[in-house]
Amino acid sequence: MSESSPTETETETPSETQSVRTVYRKDYTPPNFWVDHVDLQFDLQPNETYVSAQLRVRRNQDQPPGPLQLDGNHLQLQSVAVDGRTLSSTEYQLTTGGLILTDLPEECVVETRVVIDPESNKALSGLYRTSGNYCTQCEAQGFRRITFFPDRPDVMSRYRVTIRGEKTQCPVMLSNGNRLSQSDLQDGRHEVIWEDPFPKPSYLFALVAGDLKCHRGSFTTRSGREVALEIWVEERNLSQCEHALVSLQKSMRWDEDVFGLEYDLDIYMIVAVDDFNMGAMENKGLNVFNSKFVLALPETATDSDFLGVEAVIAHEYFHNWTGNRVTCRDWFQLTLKEGLTVFRDQQFTTDQTSAAVKRIDDVVSLRGRQFAEDSGPMAHPIRPESYIAMDNFYTATVYDKGAEIIRMYHTQLGAEGFRRGMDLYFQRHDNSAVTCDDFRAAMADANKVDFTLMDRWYSQAGTPDLTVDDQWDADSGQYTLTFTQSYPPLPESIPGVSGRQPVPIPIRTALLDSNGDEFPMQLTGEIPHPTNERVLMLNDTQRSFVFTGLSQRPVPSVLRGYSAPVRLRMQRDDEQLAFLMAHDNDSFNRWDAGQTLALRLLVSYAQGEDLSGSDSLTRFLDAIGQQTSDTTLDGSYLALLLTLPSESTIAQEMKSVDPDAIHSSRQFLRAQIAARHGNWLAETYRKLAQSGPYRNDPASIDGRRLKNTALAYLTLDRDTLGPDEKSAELAANQYDSADNMTDRQAALSLLCDLGGPKCEAALADFYDRYHGMPLVLDKWFTVQALSSAESTLTHVIKLTEHPDFDLTNPNRVRSLLQAFTMNQVRFHRPDGGGYQLLTDHVLMIDRQNPQLASRLVSRLNDYRRLEPVRQGLMREQLERINASKSLSNDVREIVTRALEF
Ligand code: TRP
Ligand code: ZN
Repeated sequence: MSESSPTETETETPSETQSVRTVYRKDYTPPNFWVDHVDLQFDLQPNETYVSAQLRVRRNQDQPPGPLQLDGNHLQLQSVAVDGRTLSSTEYQLTTGGLILTDLPEECVVETRVVIDPESNKALSGLYRTSGNYCTQCEAQGFRRITFFPDRPDVMSRYRVTIRGEKTQCPVMLSNGNRLSQSDLQDGRHEVIWEDPFPKPSYLFALVAGDLKCHRGSFTTRSGREVALEIWVEERNLSQCEHALVSLQKSMRWDEDVFGLEYDLDIYMIVAVDDFNMGAMENKGLNVFNSKFVLALPETATDSDFLGVEAVIAHEYFHNWTGNRVTCRDWFQLTLKEGLTVFRDQQFTTDQTSAAVKRIDDVVSLRGRQFAEDSGPMAHPIRPESYIAMDNFYTATVYDKGAEIIRMYHTQLGAEGFRRGMDLYFQRHDNSAVTCDDFRAAMADANKVDFTLMDRWYSQAGTPDLTVDDQWDADSGQYTLTFTQSYPPLPESIPGVSGRQPVPIPIRTALLDSNGDEFPMQLTGEIPHPTNERVLMLNDTQRSFVFTGLSQRPVPSVLRGYSAPVRLRMQRDDEQLAFLMAHDNDSFNRWDAGQTLALRLLVSYAQGEDLSGSDSLTRFLDAIGQQTSDTTLDGSYLALLLTLPSESTIAQEMKSVDPDAIHSSRQFLRAQIAARHGNWLAETYRKLAQSGPYRNDPASIDGRRLKNTALAYLTLDRDTLGPDEKSAELAANQYDSADNMTDRQAALSLLCDLGGPKCEAALADFYDRYHGMPLVLDKWFTVQALSSAESTLTHVIKLTEHPDFDLTNPNRVRSLLQAFTMNQVRFHRPDGGGYQLLTDHVLMIDRQNPQLASRLVSRLNDYRRLEPVRQGLMREQLERINASKSLSNDVREIVTRALEF
């Protein structure tokens, strides 16, 4: 070991010493050196873990000569050596961000030794401790907190990892790839060596060590290889892993069937941890998961939790090809792997369950979260132009809008053309780090089509408006659809706004006759075309399509299946929407017609219009009645038809947002539905409540979804059920008799809205039953944070002082504080108390976990859209945060953008 004294590369409060640096996409340059091979040795100890690294580096001949730049953060450097010779401190340059070595030979071995402190690492990036075990999180830039390394995804290396630890503390020690050996050392320690045969970027490195138990399974690939599947959890959770295992097996089969993609190692491990910043991480051969997306039993997890586990397991598994085998050249390309992998997991879920319900769930989330992001201070293209903290760009835009862009290739090419594009993508780019342009080129070349214009979807921020006008000429039987696109204004200072051009928009369309049957779609001047549904392409600002041979004026069904991520603007009267709601055989559009009708009513009411007894209201309630009497609809779909647009979706339609008015509006319309359809709701509830013991099949899941939607309405309906007490009794009965978490949680959250002794009894009971199970206790915090009761803020403040509230655990913080910010009416209290509570906690959390703090603070992003009083109060809190000297770059970036917006 060298004589040079240990040096911290950075103090504990980064931004005091480190200047805020913006990274630009246009500045990408390839690395000066490649790292072909890495040998890592870990000596694990809670406060003092020794990490040695030998990097076999090779100069990049395509670059002008330059130094080797190794990133490093929170590392205590012990020594540096080149080809076995220890360097003196004058022979290298240690900066705040890393280590620079000049005058290296063309090829050499660089060895560094560092000490790190996993126990004190509360940022949950790098090597940290969770529940007494060790684990890592390296994406996006956590590997530099473990060792000095060119921590950028275009540097791909083969890894060999030696882990040494105490046998009692760490009986299990895991890393990527295959286990080469395991042996005992002195003093009760042992050593395991892992080797990953596939070259990978540093963000895919993983190490896990501790006292874990394994739920095992296996999978035989279609070429006959046997893969060991291992799910590692704390012993007490061992009985909760089967659903995750089955989900993994289904995912593996699906990727073979649909994309011809096989798993490539002999072992696939998943580890569940309680402290994790995100959902899960696709580290090669060793996924690390938030336990929320692994553990699931009917008694403790809801139907939607089960779906979440299946989807996230699939997502991480699919990354093995889209992300790991083919990775990103730089972090601006993040949507290359995330948009594509979200699209793949959406398709997977579609094939497991109901396509309509899945599509609607996804679009609801896109409209609620991504649209809001895309019209606020954090608006950015799916491929951002710049960042200060990369972790801030793991966004709904990169993930979910990114998936919509991928879906548009699929819509234009069809499943087979899309598959051809994927095949070519892997053929060209396996084992390399590439760009979004490379993906687009593979899709285009494999199908001999021109996707040049698709590039605009990658470089422009904001959600386009798609306006549709139509015209009917009865004499000639010609019907014209005119599509126009435009962007609602955003400040030109936001990258990806200035100079925006029209994007290619595929518009899946059908024309319906008065029975709801589809007309053949025949364009003028075209040879006869037999199809009833077509994808119309809008590539310019405006385009008209003229259809002939129509015997009557058709009702257009446009943007079917939500074929592009745009806001549809179309003059349609209530009758037309009610007609589509009753007749459109595209189940997405059928649902969406109802949403559009509802949204109109909700916005009018929130703007002060008196709707009682209005024709529009009557028509809407009639249309709902048509749905409830349609026996062909499944329960989940019907539940979606009965669910009004969220308060955040309503807010997007308003100029000056008054959360109280929006809340009252939604309550009004809900009460109208409950009053008008009370009998049907009560009957439906009674029937479904008597459907026998819990079962985990699609029909039962649909049944629960509809039952709990009905129950929510029934607890509103004073006329059918009488006074409040009755509602509470209905919910309390369901709470008491529930044999599964879906029903129990649904009843509990309704009780939380109603308040009173039954609510308190249920909350106490819930705590008693589940306080030892963190994921279930999270639900206890969440239902209280979401309560519409007046006193919610006071209550939430009390909960922040509860012994089980823990600022270092992201799930717990999100369960209370993030959930509270979703409670539009109580978070946006007109006295600003909600904003203050959030701000207090952002400032505390930022000292430990910037990623978590920055997610929370972005809940203040939409302040500009609020009415003046709340806007002022929210801005005050943003300024209070901004005045703090020791902010992380993560929070600083969000707050600066918000204030400048
Ligand atoms: N790549 C992960 C995914 O599947 C995202 C992720 C997990 C992540 N942990 C993270 C991103 C920490 C940033 C920081 O989507
Ligand atoms: Zn992902």
